[in-house]
Amino acid sequence: MEERNVSAMPETAPREIPSSSDRATEEAASPSGYRGMADYWELITGDHADHEAEMDNLELLLRRHGAPRSQSFLDLGCGSGVQATILASRGYDVTGIDCEPDMIQVARNRAGRFRIPPRFEVGDMRSFDMGRTYDVAYSWRGAVDHLLRDDDFESMLGSVRRHVPKGVFIFEFWQNIGLRPHVEYWEKHHPGPQREVLYLQNIRYDPVSSILTREAELYALDFGAGKLEAHSVSTVRSRMLTIRSMGALVERGGFEVLGFYDATQPWQGPVERAHPAHQVLCVCRPRRPFGASPFGHGSLGSTHVSPALPGLPSVPLRRST
Ligand SMILES: C[S@@+](CC[C@H](N)C(=O)[O-])C[C@H]1O[C@@H](n2cnc3c(N)ncnc32)[C@H](O)[C@@H]1O
Repeated sequence: MEERNVSAMPETAPREIPSSSDRATEEAASPSGYRGMADYWELITGDHADHEAEMDNLELLLRRHGAPRSQSFLDLGCGSGVQATILASRGYDVTGIDCEPDMIQVARNRAGRFRIPPRFEVGDMRSFDMGRTYDVAYSWRGAVDHLLRDDDFESMLGSVRRHVPKGVFIFEFWQNIGLRPHVEYWEKHHPGPQREVLYLQNIRYDPVSSILTREAELYALDFGAGKLEAHSVSTVRSRMLTIRSMGALVERGGFEVLGFYDATQPWQGPVERAHPAHQVLCVCRPRRPFGASPFGHGSLGSTHVSPALPGLPSVPLRRST
């Protein structure tokens, strides 16, 4: 399905694009830089990952860490809702939040067909209030890496603690292992016989700040209709922490690390903090204050406030009716 190339640009596609006045060009004035990708996100990521297997891994880790009967899940940075939808199809009660309205729209469009339909809301994972608690919070494919500062990360942990006071939090983050400082990268995906999606990326990594910047451009081409279906340009930043620094950050944020796992093979068991995997899963839970009862955690509706992402108001979410 997919062709990949490193340090090469496509020779043909941009020249073949008819210049059209109805180009859906979207500049990336979006909170996390993902605007314009929602309709194609699953196509792009689906060629790299088996989403059903990812959720098998989540269930495996819940069994391993004594939470096999978890029923309610909160997905942070849910994107177009691919993982949340899979969990809903397995009968779980799932809520996904994402700061990109386009992503949430795509997620909502397919939320209706389940016994317990997943709920999707636009929100900033650092500061939101769903008005209820969950058994599990999870976050997949490096969504938490978009929190570029320690205090952003700690605010997110505060939100998780309020929503999952007695459960576990499992998140995937990406270490800088295996990265090259400057890479041009392009992928071609085929949503249909006459259609092509080109995803071009210029990736830079700053080892001082540990920030990876991806300047990405997406072209969706419909050769049958002879037109450019969509074109978006975006800049996405992620912070790539090592397992060691992530462990320290999570512990400083009041959580207990239960284990780190290689995200590509978590069934192999926990890994050491020096482990060189690129994609890592962290399983953790809110640490209980010394002497506190296991049920004595903070309640929802606390006055915790964190700064919003640029362009994203920091408002509590309302229940959708
Ligand atoms: C790499 S994508 C992952 C999406 C989805 N979890 C998946 O695996 O396909 C990261 C997602 O995190 C979202 N995001 C980034 N920062 C966020 C924030 N502060 N609050 C909520 N969502 C955020 C982005 O909009 C994007 O949809």
